[in-house]
Amino acid sequence: MRTRITELLGIRYPIIQGGLQGLGRAELAAAVSAAGGLGLITAGCFETRSELEAEIARARVLTDQPVGVNISIGSRRTMSEFVDCICELGVRIVFTSGNNPEPFVERFKRHGMIWVHVAPAVRFAQKAQQLGADGVVLVGFEAGGHPGMDDVALSVLVRKGSTELEIPVIAAGGISDGRSLVAALAWGAEGVQIGTRFVLTRETVLHPGIKQALQQASEHDTVMIERTLRKARRVLRTPQAEAVLELERQGASFEQLRHIVGGDAYLDTILHGHTDRGVLSTGQCIGLFDDVPPAGEVLRSIVEESAVVMQRLHRLVDDAPLSASPR
Ligand SMILES: Cc1cc2nc3c(=O)[nH]c(=O)nc-3n(C[C@H](O)[C@H](O)[C@H](O)COP(=O)(O)O)c2cc1C
Repeated sequence: MRTRITELLGIRYPIIQGGLQGLGRAELAAAVSAAGGLGLITAGCFETRSELEAEIARARVLTDQPVGVNISIGSRRTMSEFVDCICELGVRIVFTSGNNPEPFVERFKRHGMIWVHVAPAVRFAQKAQQLGADGVVLVGFEAGGHPGMDDVALSVLVRKGSTELEIPVIAAGGISDGRSLVAALAWGAEGVQIGTRFVLTRETVLHPGIKQALQQASEHDTVMIERTLRKARRVLRTPQAEAVLELERQGASFEQLRHIVGGDAYLDTILHGHTDRGVLSTGQCIGLFDDVPPAGEVLRSIVEESAVVMQRLHRLVDDAPLSASPR
């Protein structure tokens, strides 16, 4: 497959494994890159610069294909140090998300990096374009993690963004198979970023009990929390997620929610399976699959299915020639 995104990133298929807090580590990123997509190591998984350095080194042992780094701006005090780290290590591809990326752009450019910004709205993507981003990820309402505050579906966001932006658009939110890849390309995207589908793979360090809960979840089992903090986040609907919503209804501040939505509770949940502690970001597409395959297999099956879908669509056109005059 060839799009401006495959050309820009030097990858075979326009499929990116998005930043995954606590889970976006070397094994997963390398498996996705080795299969022809782009894996991202999530800098926010690490406390210190040396931990991040070791993870990048590990990914380089696991694959000779490009692996990028996701920098969630504002998620850690050490992020600026992490940016220096990836610049010095010669990481070629960086995806930023979260807050305004402006303070980091000069460093990305000085080191000749390819920089893609993740945005939940076209206006933020336009700002990134002005700052010199090489591409943008537009995140739709159905996505796991932070889909922004606008509640606009991916189908609308991508069509609008790909019309109004000059740089290539990557679609994120609900993409999990070949059908959704083809749909995103049809809407004008030139690549897709996937979170939830890659969470449920063999390579992630997610506790087996949580993987099982995800296998059983339907598309109705996610909920948006932290809207009152203006940090809307789509998570698996659990008693803890419901507790956050109840506290939000009572006007709770972040400090009053920290024991559930903070980093310690999150790690306790994903690594030790303690669902009575934190919450897990999960997209609506969790209702569309229930297996836990290797990440490379996920990528291959998306690519294979997309070829079948494109052939089917092509046949539809053949069966009804556009030149046929309407009755
Ligand atoms: C468990 C989980 C953790 C995430 N952590 C991050 C993160 O640290 N940084 C980031 O930019 N995006 C993060 N995201 C968002 C994903 O990178 C991606 O944009 C989103 O999951 C796409 O929607 P989908 O889940 O429907 O595939 C996370 C998503 C999930 C499901």
